[in-house]
Amino acid sequence: MAYKDVYARWQADPEAFWMEAAQAIDWDEAPSQALFDRGDDLFEWYADGKVNTCWNAVDRHVAAGRGDQVAIIHDSPITGSQQKITFAELQTRVATLAGALRAKGVEQGDRVIIYMPMVPEALEAMLACARLGAVHSVVFGGFAANELAVRIDDATPKAIIAASCGLEPGRVVKYKPLLDGAIDQASHKPDFCVILQREQEIARLTEGRDHDWHSFQMGVAPADCVPVAGNHPAYILYTSGTTGAPKGVVRHTGGHLVALNWTMKNIYDVDPGDVFWAASDVGWVVGHSYICYGPLIHGNTTIVFEGKPVGTPDAGTFWRVISEHRVKSFFTAPTAFRAVKREDPQGALIKEYDLSSLKTVYLAGERADPDTILWAQDKLGVPVIDHWWQTETGFAIAANPMGIEPLPVKIGSPSVAMPGYDVQILDDAGHEMPRGELGAIAVKLPLPPGTLPTLWNAEDRYRKSYLTTFPGFYETGDAGMIDEDGYLYIMARTDDVINVAGHRLSTGGMEEVLASHPDVAECAVIGVSDPLKGQLPVGFLCLNAGCSRTQDEITGEVVKLVRDKIGPVAAFKLAVVVDRLPKTRSGKILRAIMVKIADGQEYKMPATIDDPAILDEIRSALQTLGYAK
Ligand code: COA
Ligand code: AMP
Repeated sequence: MAYKDVYARWQADPEAFWMEAAQAIDWDEAPSQALFDRGDDLFEWYADGKVNTCWNAVDRHVAAGRGDQVAIIHDSPITGSQQKITFAELQTRVATLAGALRAKGVEQGDRVIIYMPMVPEALEAMLACARLGAVHSVVFGGFAANELAVRIDDATPKAIIAASCGLEPGRVVKYKPLLDGAIDQASHKPDFCVILQREQEIARLTEGRDHDWHSFQMGVAPADCVPVAGNHPAYILYTSGTTGAPKGVVRHTGGHLVALNWTMKNIYDVDPGDVFWAASDVGWVVGHSYICYGPLIHGNTTIVFEGKPVGTPDAGTFWRVISEHRVKSFFTAPTAFRAVKREDPQGALIKEYDLSSLKTVYLAGERADPDTILWAQDKLGVPVIDHWWQTETGFAIAANPMGIEPLPVKIGSPSVAMPGYDVQILDDAGHEMPRGELGAIAVKLPLPPGTLPTLWNAEDRYRKSYLTTFPGFYETGDAGMIDEDGYLYIMARTDDVINVAGHRLSTGGMEEVLASHPDVAECAVIGVSDPLKGQLPVGFLCLNAGCSRTQDEITGEVVKLVRDKIGPVAAFKLAVVVDRLPKTRSGKILRAIMVKIADGQEYKMPATIDDPAILDEIRSALQTLGYAK
């Protein structure tokens, strides 16, 4: 069947389409229908079914005789080690961990925060929660204690599972002091913590609260899978919004299983048994959907990679992993390829490896620039597929459905809407724009299974963030257009979210940190273009009158403050002092124009600007940082 037939079949009868897709999942009780309209623009999927995620991701493959197949390959160039775990072994490990969590009181619906690096135990912790019907919330290791504390207070976890450390090239990131700091700072306290000790750092356990990963599991009875309702939350994943308070994206169990399973063949073109690799981190949505759940649910081998595209040890790491483990579909962020291309522009290292297993490369997480796609296509000789999605959706809104029908690639476009998504380009008043014209990208409600039904404990914020601008639509926060052939083009965010090395960050959140510095009267953070990371944050500071400290002292302090409060992942290293910020007469900071000046783009002077002369000051400040040339 061609893509347009599949899409048309979904359009004609979404209920039948998603009920059919649901048959690929093992239900304890089959759902009586797919969509549940809860009224007032709220929707749920498969709400009256009963199902367990861990059963579908692990046990059912063992029951079907695939127990000896490798489920997880841990490849860690940072430690120089490798480990393979079969589905049968994974079942034992996860059932035991779940049993130990239950023995300590974790039950269905309890939240568990997971703060771990790229080790197989991170996936095991997620699956153990799923086995019990506990709701996990994984926090990325590059976030600081304060970010962890905010998530602890929002998710109110019964337990936190962490490792003693993560490993960055040349640096051991000690997690335990961050964890202790976060728990001290948070108002909510978990009942207990479980710590996986790694040989690079043995953490001191807090008596009465912390348990060692191994000894805590000794002698416990393994836990069976607990069937939960289709609309039971599988997990909460926090993502950046416009303010410092992250949004807790909720994922419901039934839709998550059905949607991810559907994508594995239809988008990523893998069959059970094939090796699938997403080089991301479990702390991001890509890690949830395509390191952990998607491949395992579908019976694929997944790779947990603890390394970087370059420097661990060189720009050939990706190619080594692909050839050694016979990867068929490979998924990464464009920034990773840009890093490789910068080190090995001719792709000389590619030639050292047998990449015959590799059929397709997928890119997402940020705009894929044409140079990078063309380079990868040329050097790898396989299709390089851009696809567009968000933490909120959990899987691709637009993609090239390689398992249905490879469509012609248009460089600069993540291709076409996937079944389930009626994507439209709207003007400010919510009218559909003609083909080829730029507007806000919105998706007609309901969103498909697997997408967010709400935000954790924040239905109002969910409505305000996504549903109110365009009634009857989900507002993606991205702007772009659709061409004559139905191909989407993603041009920019419509809010203050920036994308740094494929990581989604809030400039508003960084501004809150800068504003907390005692000498800062006012500030603005913008995202400027960067050839490697896509965007980089730059901070502008107006100091309090009478401040006697040097500008260098203060910029140094705010850089440290962002690293301490948000984390190294913010990559906030550029700050500059200015007398004033450019504003409209009503006091709105003209951040979009500041970005244009930084990137050397043309801009229209807004009629409402208070004092145009300030823009010259901004330009010279940016020039001192090497921008606005
Ligand atoms: N734990 C602790 N610190 C982390 C971390 C983690 N899990 N991940 C990143 N950091 C730190 C880095 O060490 C770096 O610290 P530094 O300021 O001391 O150098 C900082 O956060 C910024 O990290 P990053 O933006 O990743 O830059 P980098 O220079 O280390 O690496 C790339 C650059 C391009 C190689 C890297 O960004 C990359 O691999 N990106 C792929 C992104 C990706 O997979 N995104 C997921 C969406 S698909
Ligand atoms: P995240 O929620 O971290 O996955 O970030 C989602 C955001 O990243 C989207 O809203 C886009 O702004 C951006 N993004 C993701 N994929 C793409 C893509 N293929 N092209 C352009 N932007 C993308």
